[in-house]
Amino acid sequence: MLIVLNNKCNLTKEEFINYKEGLETLENKHEIVLCPSNIFLALSNLEKIKLGSQNVSSKPMGAYTGEVSAEQLKSFNVKYSIVGHSERRKYQQETPVDINKKIKMLLENDITPIYCVGESKEERQNNQYKEVIKNDILKSLEEIKDEDKNKIIVAYEPIWSIGTGIIPTIDEINEVVEMIKEILPNNRLLYGGSANDKNIATLKNINNIDGYLVGGLSLSIENLKIFLENL
Ligand code: PGA
Repeated sequence: MLIVLNNKCNLTKEEFINYKEGLETLENKHEIVLCPSNIFLALSNLEKIKLGSQNVSSKPMGAYTGEVSAEQLKSFNVKYSIVGHSERRKYQQETPVDINKKIKMLLENDITPIYCVGESKEERQNNQYKEVIKNDILKSLEEIKDEDKNKIIVAYEPIWSIGTGIIPTIDEINEVVEMIKEILPNNRLLYGGSANDKNIATLKNINNIDGYLVGGLSLSIENLKIFLENL
């Protein structure tokens, strides 16, 4: 299984150094990817854990104040990058057009995109979720060659589940996973949204997924250990 740790905008330098020591103690039969804040990438050389970023610029290196480009991430040994996370869509107004540019930048630099997609609570209640997800995939992955498209990891993240402690039913997740598999049969697929040590026994029943993207859980070494033991 592939487990992606999304630290989001958390931890001070001292806290991160402590946290990193904890990560070194994790037993991992699984592939673990750490996505820390960019400022910690240079401190994140871990033996058994791969490195990911939480975002990437849609621009190349150059005069783009405040941005971090795919070339720069690559030079820090970053192998994966989350792209299109719902928090970036919400707070930075990222659109599928931006996401498409970012995915292309990552692929050009041999970084595996972890593309996040999912519906809001309202879109689920109005029964629009399938349409919303399908359209987002088509727009975000537009004009990407099949060969490259297959390298993208898709994370199904219902927005109403992220950070809320609420998870969809297994049937609800299976339905969307199946639909995504019909569009992208060769891609690895993750589930994300309040996955934790307490609900992993339930989430394990999702058919056909390759792993999990975890936010809150990623910050607790103790709970992560329980999660990994129960995978
Ligand atoms: P959560 O976050 O596990 O805290 O719900 C998941 C995510 O934002 O990717």
